Amino acid sequence: MNALLRKFIFNDLQTVEGYIDPPDALVFLSLLQAQKNGGMGGGIAEIGVFYGRSYYLMKKIVGDADRILAIDLFDLGEDSIGKPTQYQRFLDYGRRLGLSVDEDLIIKGDSTGLRPSDITDRIGRTRFFSIDGGHMLEHVVSDTALATDTLEEHGIIAFDDTFNPAWPEVTVGVADFLRERKDTFTAFCMTKYKTYVCRREYHDFYYRAISDAPDLAAFRHVDTQFLGSKTARLHNPMGRRMVYELMVHAGMRGLSERVYR
Ligand SMILES: C[S@@+](CC[C@H](N)C(=O)[O-])C[C@H]1O[C@@H](n2cnc3c(N)ncnc32)[C@H](O)[C@@H]1O
Repeated sequence: MNALLRKFIFNDLQTVEGYIDPPDALVFLSLLQAQKNGGMGGGIAEIGVFYGRSYYLMKKIVGDADRILAIDLFDLGEDSIGKPTQYQRFLDYGRRLGLSVDEDLIIKGDSTGLRPSDITDRIGRTRFFSIDGGHMLEHVVSDTALATDTLEEHGIIAFDDTFNPAWPEVTVGVADFLRERKDTFTAFCMTKYKTYVCRREYHDFYYRAISDAPDLAAFRHVDTQFLGSKTARLHNPMGRRMVYELMVHAGMRGLSERVYR
């Protein structure tokens, strides 16, 4: 297990306002490390940064060696003169975590207006693409096209909020994509919140990376048939989630990591 990175995930990262929870953070960790160990290079991109919880996770895992492109509208919050506060708060979190942000690799704007070259010119082809921006069908369709057009052969797309009843159009968009591109792309892992997709030729590699990952041993791995592919669904029982939440609320963040061993 990665003791230091787990400490980061369960302590420091939880102080950043945002959405990626420890199970998915451990999946990101396991996949980015499997790629590194397999000599699979490429840039990392994220649409939908918010205050940087998943961005800083990826930054911490890969260090300064790999380039991470962050795309967001950065129009949230409002200061006394009506200027959005999101970008400054995002930078402040990085400073607090001791993680640098390469501001040349930040795109402030609507992802649906981007071309693939806006990404590849900055970071080359992508090996890991996190899609967590606009949650309507038009965004999912556009962001997915951007991801597939920039993806390395061995690249992964991580879709957030798949199967979340609050965002039904994400579910539709991801299902449409997987059905339309079923000869090329396939899901290999699902969690409560995210679905992880790669090209068919790499399915077995990533499926095994998930099955064998020491940091994911705490979860029950349930083989789930999804549009013709065996997908590792990581089951995180309600009891464990409750114990974890209780510990966090009781100020026992440091110990909460043990719940996921
Ligand atoms: C759910 S949050 C992302 C959470 C983040 N990944 C985390 O780990 O906390 C969604 C983000 O997507 C951004 N967003 C929404 N629509 C967008 C668009 N069309 N283009 C770029 N970013 C967008 C919002 O500004 C917001 O910061």
